Amino acid sequence: MNDYNYKKIRQEVIKLVKRACYSAKNNFSYTVWQYHILPVASHSRHLGKILKADLEILELAAYLHDYAGIMDYRLYKDHHLHSARLAGKILDELNFPPAKIKKVQECIISHRGSIRVKYKTKEAEILASADAMSHFTELADMFYLTFGIHKYKTLAGAKWLKAKLERSWAKIMPAGRKIVRADYEIAKKIINKAISSNA
Ligand SMILES: [Fe+2]
Ligand SMILES: [Fe+2]
Repeated sequence: MNDYNYKKIRQEVIKLVKRACYSAKNNFSYTVWQYHILPVASHSRHLGKILKADLEILELAAYLHDYAGIMDYRLYKDHHLHSARLAGKILDELNFPPAKIKKVQECIISHRGSIRVKYKTKEAEILASADAMSHFTELADMFYLTFGIHKYKTLAGAKWLKAKLERSWAKIMPAGRKIVRADYEIAKKIINKAISSNA
């Protein structure tokens, strides 16, 4: 029997992250909760079930993986490290077992596409895939990021987004690609059209 209450821990983590997302201090706007954190958690669970991974580790890592960058944009550059550190503190206070906390932290440390590290566990590989999968299933939010937050004009934004999405695609494990392939093709079609009509 587990000597910790996972349901309660999960509830507390959700409350904490959601609050950070909706805080005025969050530089990404509150949309990050609905269009990034929740989809990453959902893709993590989906892949975790297929690949028989530890769903508790995966869920908590998914909710907390970008936490530091959401809390404080100054931490964004190294948000994989800061989020892992903060996750350690939060989960320790909630009495999540230390061995499992370490696994959550490993997932968070290796989640970024731009920083190539070797995945230590199946869960770590899944989180990195789930993070990238959300870029395809939440394409509208990627447009918001490109044109709303970064303020690119159409062609420059299309080129920037195309490069970003190709990096995301490269990061997704085969089981994840199967799930988002149709969304990937749609994204490519829309973006390539914008680029080729400007040629
Ligand atoms: Fe991240
Ligand atoms: Fe993320």
